[in-house]
Amino acid sequence: MHDMLAGFVLYPPTMLKTTRRRLLAGLPAFGLFSAHAEDSKPLENILFGSCLDTHEHPMLDRTLSLPRDLFLFMGDNIYADQGGIPMMQEKYARLKNSRFFRGLKNKPILATWDDHDFGLNDGGSEYPQKKEAQVEFWNWLDEPANSPHRQQEGVYQAKTFGPSGKRVRIILLDTRYFRSPLMKVSKEKAMLGGSSIPTEDETTTILGAAQWTWLEKVLQEPAELRIIVSSIQFAPEAHGGECWANFPHEQKRLLTMLRGQKALVLSGDRHWSEFSKNSVFDFTSSSMTQKHPRGTPTPNKHRLVPKTYHLPNVGLLNIDWTAQAITTQIFGEAPEAQIELRVPFTDLVV
Ligand SMILES: [Fe+2]
Repeated sequence: MHDMLAGFVLYPPTMLKTTRRRLLAGLPAFGLFSAHAEDSKPLENILFGSCLDTHEHPMLDRTLSLPRDLFLFMGDNIYADQGGIPMMQEKYARLKNSRFFRGLKNKPILATWDDHDFGLNDGGSEYPQKKEAQVEFWNWLDEPANSPHRQQEGVYQAKTFGPSGKRVRIILLDTRYFRSPLMKVSKEKAMLGGSSIPTEDETTTILGAAQWTWLEKVLQEPAELRIIVSSIQFAPEAHGGECWANFPHEQKRLLTMLRGQKALVLSGDRHWSEFSKNSVFDFTSSSMTQKHPRGTPTPNKHRLVPKTYHLPNVGLLNIDWTAQAITTQIFGEAPEAQIELRVPFTDLVV
């Protein structure tokens, strides 16, 4: 799988030295730069989903029937925040053996996590077993033992697909490993989405220093389109639940970094789907297997399309290189798209 995913990846200097040594010795460079034929094909159909509390569901079979060059697991890929590492291992094994996961494996898969697969509900840097959880995450994805991803703290990563002129850089963030505690109010003062509120404390963080440094470098690498995968929503206004708006200084920092680039955000977490724009487009798809019990969304002045969707669903992002436009659709179990928006590339500039 990883040979197929080979592209431009930021590796630590030690890894690059090793690669150089291997190349000089006539050995394969771990497949890092040994581009598979698929790598040079432009990426056209990206499926993105989140929040899988079961791995047998009609929506998962429906997902396998949709066009796909790449699948993105955007977090809560398993629900394992109650039983420690043994439960995590058991749930990952179940996902890995599922018809759904086996069906995805003929094409590239990329993933990040959210709180329920990180191991602590609404959890962040304080979670004591985050290192162990990270090992299980990479084991699930068969990340090679010598992969630099296993050496770094946090599961953030970036990969580029497609030839020059049609490069898509997929940037998956880790919004858990380094995240400062949430600022909370009492239940009486809580909003519809929960009791978290925006903080003014600029020493708090979502991404943490090391990930910010990495991200800044990654965003300087050439690409025609950048797709940021964030488990939690980026664009919507604060709603009481988890979102970037709870850390306005971090939200502003990412927007500043993206300024002038063609970029968009994909997110999950909410157990409903909606499209928002707050300087950058944010397409939310959640949950793949669960019905949202309330059935109504929280207020969001940045919502672009009035319709939200609260039944099991997956997102499909189509890139039309000829027309220079993207179309994002949310699909439930029915044949027709539930939410749809077409955006010309020119409007994606942040
Ligand atoms: Fe979830």
